[in-house]
Amino acid sequence: MREPLLRVERLSLDFRTRDGRVKALQDVSFHIDKGEILGIVGESGSGKSVSAFAIMGLLESTAAIGGGSVHFAGADLLANNGAAMKAMRGREISMIFQSPRTALNPIRKVGRQIEDVLLRHGPVAKRDAKKKAIEALARVRIPDAERRYDAYPFELSGGMCQRVMIAMALACEPMLLIADEPTTGLDVTTQAVVMDLIREMVDETRMGALLITHDLGLAGEYCDRIVVMHAGHTVEDAPTEVLLAKAAHPYSAKLIAATPAAADEISQLASIPGGLPDLRRSDLPFCRFRDRCERRAEVCDAEPLPFAELAGDHLVRCWRPA
Ligand SMILES: Nc1ncnc2c1ncn2[C@@H]1O[C@H](COP(=O)(O)OP(=O)(O)O)[C@@H](O)[C@H]1O
Ligand SMILES: [Mg+2]
Repeated sequence: MREPLLRVERLSLDFRTRDGRVKALQDVSFHIDKGEILGIVGESGSGKSVSAFAIMGLLESTAAIGGGSVHFAGADLLANNGAAMKAMRGREISMIFQSPRTALNPIRKVGRQIEDVLLRHGPVAKRDAKKKAIEALARVRIPDAERRYDAYPFELSGGMCQRVMIAMALACEPMLLIADEPTTGLDVTTQAVVMDLIREMVDETRMGALLITHDLGLAGEYCDRIVVMHAGHTVEDAPTEVLLAKAAHPYSAKLIAATPAAADEISQLASIPGGLPDLRRSDLPFCRFRDRCERRAEVCDAEPLPFAELAGDHLVRCWRPA
């Protein structure tokens, strides 16, 4: 079998809190190939960001990995206390976050901030750093990059700041870009510009990308494949057009029905009844969607969830898929 760029396999993770353990991830699995954008979608609290932080090795000390593995370019990132991870982070795997303005240093010129990254990780000589930084700004289609090099974050729009973040993330030519809600808070036009840019960069450099979003419409537009998460479980994994046309998990189907593009009128927008279960419960059911599910049957409570393969590239974690 061909080894993907990133393979997360049956990753389980708890947070220790004063009120007990939060079972944030259980048996989370997905993979990303070179040159593809994988979308992870799900409501707030479903475990999308925690999955990204686990890959990046950015978990807090209260997090305990209960099992599973994260393989990247052949290396096990969780082995040796994450030593392999530290070597990869920033250089081979980069991450961009929501609200770029807060992620940038407000009192340092944006060009300098890109130089910092280049000098820290890249084989770039000090005398070449400025030229490279301007190239990085130009690559993300920032007009007049030479002048923008000297700008401070507050002098740039939100969309420009996110482009600077992307320039920083791409400066060292990573093999994998993780973007966690990269366009939340941006207006729709800027959102499209930023997403088009990520798509172009993936096509141009053949890096892999992980797009984390609560917006299935956005994922549908830009991702090659989509993984649906619900309450710390990966419940469905399929090529985008397969998921949108033949969603098999009842939760995926509800998410699609709740996406504006799927409903002709706002009044048809279905909301998904119920909320996520409290992940601190010690008696969490096998299926964490059961209380919200119309297809629920006895088997759902009787046995752990199967990972069913509907087609070679279409997986669903459900006893009664549609
Ligand atoms: N540091 C933490 N301590 C305890 N629980 C956490 C912590 N970080 C995240 N969680 C919990 O893990 C679950 C997944 O969170 P997260 O990955 O941030 O969701 P999202 O899909 O919105 O990105 C949530 O129930 C959240 O409350
Ligand atoms: Mg999040």
